[in-house]
Amino acid sequence: MNPLKNHAFLEKHSLVLLIAIVVTVLIGGIIEIIPLFRQETVIEKVEGVRPYTPLELAGYNIYIREGCYNCHSQQIRPLRDEVARYGHYSLAAESMYDHPFQWGSKRTGPDLARVGAKYSDEWHVAHLVNPRSVVPGSIMPTYGFLLKNSAKLYDLEDHLKAQKTLGVPYSDEMAVWAVKDAKVQATDLDRIDSDGIISRYGENVNIRDFDGNPKFISEMDALIAYLQVLGTMVDFEVTKGINLDQEESEE
Ligand code: HEC
Repeated sequence: MNPLKNHAFLEKHSLVLLIAIVVTVLIGGIIEIIPLFRQETVIEKVEGVRPYTPLELAGYNIYIREGCYNCHSQQIRPLRDEVARYGHYSLAAESMYDHPFQWGSKRTGPDLARVGAKYSDEWHVAHLVNPRSVVPGSIMPTYGFLLKNSAKLYDLEDHLKAQKTLGVPYSDEMAVWAVKDAKVQATDLDRIDSDGIISRYGENVNIRDFDGNPKFISEMDALIAYLQVLGTMVDFEVTKGINLDQEESEE
């Protein structure tokens, strides 16, 4: 018997062929996609990644409110030119606590996944107030009003609780202290004790006045606190073991 006989039948009946193709693709698709629903198996935990502090979360909310994601991505792809320009490509774990994620799909401006610690706070203030003052020819809009708007901190406890329902490991203690922690982080006044926030979020927290006015916690403080932590949580020197850096493995 000719083993290709059945195949000849398929090829001559386009509708049957179509159904056979769909069934085959579906089987392949299901096998590939179903395991991804079990997120734990997809996202490898990486040392250093922590939930945002309340002030950073307030800044993250402003980032979304202002639609920064319309012009900025937060996802460095594992391609040589991207890694050369922006640094180590993004790990899934680095955005595992972003709800919603800020990967973005458009780069009118550069990727911001590793913008943390790249510039000084003063640079960010100047740039957000008037991008043209530091980058001539920039087409980024101005956000000077952030300096005048007082950061909305009073509802941070609820924000932390909401994030917790989505799987972000905020403890009850973190929620209770949310407003206080935000105030402590945004000021560099010595009299305020910062041990609490460090015990809750670790050493890698920027505690200082971000906007140049230590007496007032502005939306600028919150947004810059957020920008300055982006991409800084994972220490790629320490995590070399799991580091799949293309540049190095090719050499
Ligand atoms: C209309 C598009 C647009 C929007 C909206 C926008 N940006 Fe930009 N952004 C740009 C462009 C273009 C650049 C590159 C020129 C420059 O540095 O100003 C840039 C640059 C930046 C940089 C410097 C990045 C680097 O590595 O040099 C930061 C930080 C930044 N934007 C933050 C923000 C934040 C925060 C928001 C929201 C409050 C925002 N941007 C909204 C277009 C935009």
